Amino acid sequence: MGESERREFDLSGKVAVVTGASRGIGATIARAFSAHGATVVLVSRKAEALGEVAAAIEGAGGRALPVACNTGNPDEIATLFETVRSELGGTDILVNNAATNPHFGPAAEAPSWALDKTVDVNLKGYFVCCQHAAASMMERGGGSIVNVSSIAALSPPPGQVIYAMTKAAVIALTRGLARELGPHGIRVNAIAPGLVETDFSRVLLETEPIRQQIVGHTPLGRWGQPEEIVGAALYLASDLASFTTGTVLVVDGGLTI
Ligand SMILES: NC(=O)c1ccc[n+]([C@@H]2O[C@H](COP(=O)([O-])OP(=O)(O)OC[C@H]3O[C@@H](n4cnc5c(N)ncnc54)[C@H](OP(=O)(O)O)[C@@H]3O)[C@@H](O)[C@H]2O)c1
Repeated sequence: MGESERREFDLSGKVAVVTGASRGIGATIARAFSAHGATVVLVSRKAEALGEVAAAIEGAGGRALPVACNTGNPDEIATLFETVRSELGGTDILVNNAATNPHFGPAAEAPSWALDKTVDVNLKGYFVCCQHAAASMMERGGGSIVNVSSIAALSPPPGQVIYAMTKAAVIALTRGLARELGPHGIRVNAIAPGLVETDFSRVLLETEPIRQQIVGHTPLGRWGQPEEIVGAALYLASDLASFTTGTVLVVDGGLTI
């Protein structure tokens, strides 16, 4: 890689807020953003787990600010972004990644608490984080928002209707905000991962027929690892994607072709 490309991938001087950063895809993205120079704000509900990710980042020479926050609660999100402003001056990059999927089964049997929780975290939480981040980015003259959706948004699997509908709404959120925020120098894009090995997907990976079906229909013949989502996140967050907004980057081993 030449000098100019290296500079464009460089996130140094940037403050990146990553939700769902205590494990899985979010923790992996946060570590990678730090390795590319960003100061990373690590967000999830569990302070202890965030502290471990922060310690690893700082041990590698990076700078991390762990902030415990339930992204299903708009008041906690407001406090999160106030903390980012007072500690680090503001937000340049937001990765909306924290999500939940408490009901795995027929939509007809879904309890109303599961509907509320999924919408609160996966949709309202993403929306409110975008509102706060965009306000800060406007003051700073630009920024990049990366919303983690899912291929479930494009092809909703049975048993995951509520989850899929929130992830589809994230794509509309992404495209709508791309239009509104483009004139302010703020790019808004989404990633739609396929099956990636994390705690989140364990129920799918441990259900043999589902596992076989997914692997059988995936041209690359396997599921993915969190590290394989990093390239998309880094690209969309960085200046390499300076003319890219409102897009959905599918990273699924070809499953949805
Ligand atoms: N894994 C896959 O196959 C797959 C496929 C497509 C899309 N995705 C998407 O990728 C993203 C990351 O998933 P993952 O697989 O990395 O899941 P994961 O390993 O289970 O991590 C989920 C993260 O979200 C946090 N979180 C959950 N609820 C939260 C809340 N209410 N407030 C704040 N943080 C919360 C969790 O931290 P705490 O428990 O500490 O709060 C954790 O850090 C999600 O948006 C998911 O929909 C995953």
